[in-house]
Parts: sequence; C-alpha cells; structure tokens
Amino acid sequence: MSTDIDQLHLETAKRRTFAIISHPDAGKTTLTEKLLLYGGAIHLAGSIKSRKTARHAVSDWMEIEKQRGISVTSSVLQFDYGGCRINILDTPGHQDFSEDTYRTLMAVDSAVMVLDAAKGVEAQTKKLFKVCKERQVPIFTFVNKLDRYGKVPIDLMDEIENVLGIRSYPMNWPVGSDGRYQGVYDRQKKVVELFSADTTHGQEARLSDIYELGSAELKDRLDEVVYQNLLDDIELLDAAGEDFDLEKVARGELTPMFFGSAMTNFGVQNFLEEYLRLAPAPAARESSAGKIEPTDGKFSAFVFKIQANMNPAHRDRLAFIRIVSGKFERNMAVWHETGGKTIKLAQPQQFLAQDRQIIDEAWPGDIVGLFDPGIFRIGDTISDPSIKFRFADFPVFPPEKFARVEAKDTMKRKQFLKGIEQLTQEGAIQLFKEAGYDSIIVGTVGTLQFDVLVYRLKSEYGVDVILTMQPFEVARWLVYEDGHTATPEGMRGIDRGMFVYDRSGLPVLLVNNEWALGWIRDNNPGLELYSVPPDKKEI
Ligand code: G4P
Repeated sequence: MSTDIDQLHLETAKRRTFAIISHPDAGKTTLTEKLLLYGGAIHLAGSIKSRKTARHAVSDWMEIEKQRGISVTSSVLQFDYGGCRINILDTPGHQDFSEDTYRTLMAVDSAVMVLDAAKGVEAQTKKLFKVCKERQVPIFTFVNKLDRYGKVPIDLMDEIENVLGIRSYPMNWPVGSDGRYQGVYDRQKKVVELFSADTTHGQEARLSDIYELGSAELKDRLDEVVYQNLLDDIELLDAAGEDFDLEKVARGELTPMFFGSAMTNFGVQNFLEEYLRLAPAPAARESSAGKIEPTDGKFSAFVFKIQANMNPAHRDRLAFIRIVSGKFERNMAVWHETGGKTIKLAQPQQFLAQDRQIIDEAWPGDIVGLFDPGIFRIGDTISDPSIKFRFADFPVFPPEKFARVEAKDTMKRKQFLKGIEQLTQEGAIQLFKEAGYDSIIVGTVGTLQFDVLVYRLKSEYGVDVILTMQPFEVARWLVYEDGHTATPEGMRGIDRGMFVYDRSGLPVLLVNNEWALGWIRDNNPGLELYSVPPDKKEI
C-alpha cells in the first residue's frame, strides 16, 4: 500500500498542467509547437509557412478550424521533459469562445501568457488574464517575437503592471536592442546565452553558447555598446526591480517574465526549463466534502469539456476529465454523482493532436478523454465509489445573443433535436423553448457560435437549419419571492420580451434592454430576476 501512495506522490509532483493564453496572432500556436519540439513529441516543428499550406497546427482538430484558420475548440497535448509530465490545454483564441476557454482554465494549475513584443497587452489577453487572476492561477509571461522590432523591455514591464495590475519579474533579459537581439541574460544563473544564427527557420532546436557575465569571452563576442547597456540594465533591474518571491507567484500577484522568439527558438528551451522548475504541481480542489488533495488516496475527477466528433476517423463523443486525486485506471468503476450511479470507464484516451492512445493509468493533473454515451455534463464529478461528493459547480456565462433555430426539412426534426441536445450538453449553446410553442431558441455568448452551430448541424447531423436572430440581449430567470412559479399568463409586460423555458423547465424572460427589464421589475411585485439559473454562479 505504501508503495502505491509513494507512487501517487511521485507522479503528482511530476505533473505540470497549464494553458497558454494570448491575443490571436501573438504566437501561442508557434510556442506550443516549439515546446513539443523540445519535448521530443514532434521532430520537425511545423513552420508557420508550411502550416498554412500543407500542414495544420498540431492542435487544429475540427474541419471548421482549418477552414477559418482559428482555433475553435480546446485541445490537450501531453509530453515529457526533464522528468516532468506536461499537459498543455489549448485555449481558443477567438473572443466569442470565452465560455469554452473559461472552462479550460478551470482545469489548469498555471497559465502561460504570450505577449507580442511589439503589441504588448492586447484586448483578449486582458480578458483571459482576468479569469486567471480571479481563480488565483499563477501566470508566467513569455514576451514573444523578439527577433524583430518591439517595445522596449522596461516599457513592457510597466504596461503589464499598469494594464493588468500585476508586477513582473524578468527571469531573463534580452541582449541587444531593437529586434537585433543576440541572446538572453539568465538572471538566476548569471550567465549570458548567445544564440547561433537560425538556419532552419525554427524547425530544429537552436544551438547556443553560454558565457559567464563579466568573462573576457563574452566581452569579445558583444559589441561594446551592447555589453555596456546590458550591464546597466542588469544593475537597474537588481536595484529597482521587484524581488523574486515564489509565494507571490503562487497567489497570482507576480508574474515571472521571459523574453524570446517562438518562431526562431530563441529563449524557448530556457523558458521551458525554468517554467517547469517554478510552476506548481497539481493543486487541491474545493468540494462538498472539503478540500480534496491530489495525494488523497482515492480517485476523483471532474468533467470540464465535452466534445463531439472531433475527428472524422472516430465519430464519437468525448468527455474530458481533469484528475484531481488518486490514481486513474482503465476499466475502473467510478461513482457518477449527477447520474447517481456507478459506471465503468472502459476506453480512456490521451492525446497528441490527431493521434489517440488508449491509456491504462493516469494521475492527478492529467487530462483523460472518456467515451461518452451521452451521460456526462460539464462540471460533473466522478470519484471512487467509496467517496461520494461533488466538486464546486462551474460558474456560467449569461447568454447575450439569441436565435430561433429550425430544421429546413421538417422530416429531419429528429436528427435536428438530437444535434441541438448534444451541442447543449457540450456547453456550446444554451437551449430554450418558447412558451406555448414548439420552437427552439438558442442562446450564446457570441455570434460565432451560431456559425459553428449551423456548420456542425449540417456536417455531423446532416441537417440544414434556418436561423432567425432575435432582438434580445439579456435573459432573466424568473423567481417569485413567495415560491410560486412564473407563468406567461400571471405576469405583466411579457409582450416586452419573449417568455421561454430553459432545458430544466425553469421560466426565463428574454428582453432587449435594461429599460424593459426595469419596467418588468416595477410592474411585477415579488418577482426576482437572475441573469443565470438561480442555483448557478455567474462568471
Ligand atoms: P496564435 O496561435 O497566437 O494566433 O499565433 P501563431 O502562433 O499562429 O502566430 C501568429 C503569427 O505570428 C504567425 O505569422 C507567426 O509566424 C508569427 N510568429 C510567431 N512567433 C513569432 C516570432 O517569434 N517571431 C516572429 N517574427 N513572428 C512570429 P502569420 O502571419 O500567421 O504567418 P506568416 O505569414 O508569418 O507565415
């Protein structure tokens, strides 16, 4: 028994589970590829040029991603490096997919924020950063595209502090200036790493030479001005900069900052090694039974993502779980809290892009894809049958866009309903039914989700749909103080919106502005309005 517990401690300590967050185009995909390259998971990193023509980014799964050139769904990549087992959760960069991204961030222990050195902190980075900060996820910063002209490093530090409200601690410092950087100074080891010219367009790991700061060899290699500037910068950082404090990093108050270029492999390996050294191993989670530590002996996990038909070669549905505690074993029986029964996990899978492998065991921090016959929901808890509890509920986004959706061909209504139901379970859309009618109203947090809905109903369920956008901007769940149920007949002013029921049958009013909302509040005494279902927390 004790050897089992020893192994659990050992395997947990090895895990690093994180997401890379960035504004589109900052270089998240390129950096992911390079981390895989250094991890030996792919031998030739797809250069951006070849990716655009022949090859797709390693995390591109769905056809729509390829067509649109954006990452729609989150994917999971796993590889080993330096004694660590790394799980990278890819987050969709597009702003409309914040809900999916949010859920992914519920499953990580830290995040890497990629900034474009020339653009600094951009809009989408800000949003994603906020989510991480709220969850107190430690954030590491990689300032990318150092191979070309960018903002001055000191200015970037100020920008991070002023825009995001977090202090930064440069772990390394670029040597050179204005896109003519030759290497980085490692502040911990006090050495300078100079990179040889990249002759492979970033397809192979980059060679570098290491010099002690102050050594004659370094002075020989660097231009006098560059060398002096470096010494001045180091002095300034040491005197005026923040002290490095891992506790502050763990609380999300300080971000270790790295400079590099994902495309030319400049600083990538150093970043990976330092990141693995400093990033936290899997953390405990709150549950109805108190804090669950990863090294608690019994298995537990939660579902953070459900995805259908990811790969045309496997037309099925997967529920992604994040293991919180204990050892996961293939064919194990687990308690499914929402379903209220014990189930067997027969086909667990792990991923490297398009390749899937059946796995026999997994440990805290790992992500496993489970074959889902339609029983799982986002946020579900599964655990060893001897410990029945529930992890804290996922907060939900209030829907902001609404459309009536119907099958063009009424003969296909059955497939249509199946598709809508499955996409709802995946958490891609929220489903409502109009009171007194059979019609289906879909709510989302952004308009791109409607494009995905139409595309997926067509490609996966063979159903063409008619989509009619509705003029509403908010949904309000209706609850009377005295406990009686809201009905269309019993309320004043429902002609100012649309009375619908959510998929649990709870009454909801869709309205198009705050003014209408105010009128309804004033004219229906005792009515309480919630922007998400009353038993859920809003994001
Ligand atoms: P994303 O996933 O964050 O959206 O970004 P992605 O990696 O796809 O990179 C976006 C663009 O930035 C790509 O150019 C890529 O080549 C470029 N890029 C990534 N890392 C670096 C870097 O370190 N230095 C420089 N100079 N560029 C970098 P693109 O316009 O999409 O393609 P292409 O025309 O450059 O091939």
